[in-house]
Amino acid sequence: MSLLSLFHSHTPPPSVGELIHWDESLLSVGNPVIDEEHRAIVECLNRVYADWMAADHRLNLEEELGKLSVVVETHFANEEDLMARRHCPTLPGHARDHRDMLAELHAIAKNVHALPQAKLEAQLLRFIRRLVMAHVLSWDMDARDYLRA
Ligand SMILES: [Fe+2]
Ligand SMILES: [Fe+2]
Repeated sequence: MSLLSLFHSHTPPPSVGELIHWDESLLSVGNPVIDEEHRAIVECLNRVYADWMAADHRLNLEEELGKLSVVVETHFANEEDLMARRHCPTLPGHARDHRDMLAELHAIAKNVHALPQAKLEAQLLRFIRRLVMAHVLSWDMDARDYLRA
């Protein structure tokens, strides 16, 4: 089973060129601000994925990963701030997972020109799966009572 089919088996069927389909019922934490940030992250991931699939790569991947880092960093900070104000007991582990993911994303962005294409794709797919499935669908959903508006 490929990484992609494994990914898709846990999410609704995507549209053509869409790696992750935003599904309100699956991905919403009940807070419009946090949901919008998650949606912006998903859009950025879909944009990068669509460019991989295209015959001619139009995106500057380094630039896209830079934008993704900013969106993700801002989101993590906002989420942690909200959880801290609401005394969420899982915040320490949750924040650690945020930090680990940021380190992983920064390492990929740093090596974007050094890695062979196949290895870069594998690392990016692993990161995307981790961010969406292991984090948003797990850590964020588990903290929903502390994240909802
Ligand atoms: Fe989140
Ligand atoms: Fe989170």
